[in-house]
Amino acid sequence: MASTFHRAAGADQVAEGGSLGVVVAGWPVLLARVEGRLHATIDRCTHAASELSTGRIRRGAVMCPLHGARFELASGRCLGGSYPSLMVFEVREDGAGGIEVAVPDEAPGPEHLPVRPRT
Ligand code: FES
Repeated sequence: MASTFHRAAGADQVAEGGSLGVVVAGWPVLLARVEGRLHATIDRCTHAASELSTGRIRRGAVMCPLHGARFELASGRCLGGSYPSLMVFEVREDGAGGIEVAVPDEAPGPEHLPVRPRT
């Protein structure tokens, strides 16, 4: 699947130990920075499609805010559970204060979009 880098956020929007949910060319993306390294995964839990970007980042993993599944940010692998892995995207700083993420050139399907809680 071909992918292309797009600007996703300002580098200063993702602090050490923090995360940010963004939409990049239609794809929901979770950005996080752990020990200086940026990570980008799909912002959709593989269990029941919750957004992950409101979850806690600890020890290189994000915890789903809905039922508590944990996913390793570097690999997308579910830790201590059997849910499918998250999609992981290439991510880089652009040298001009921005973060770029490579997302597939195809538009995301409904199976890639998070279900947002009703407000
Ligand atoms: S929706 Fe993420 S653990 Fe259930």
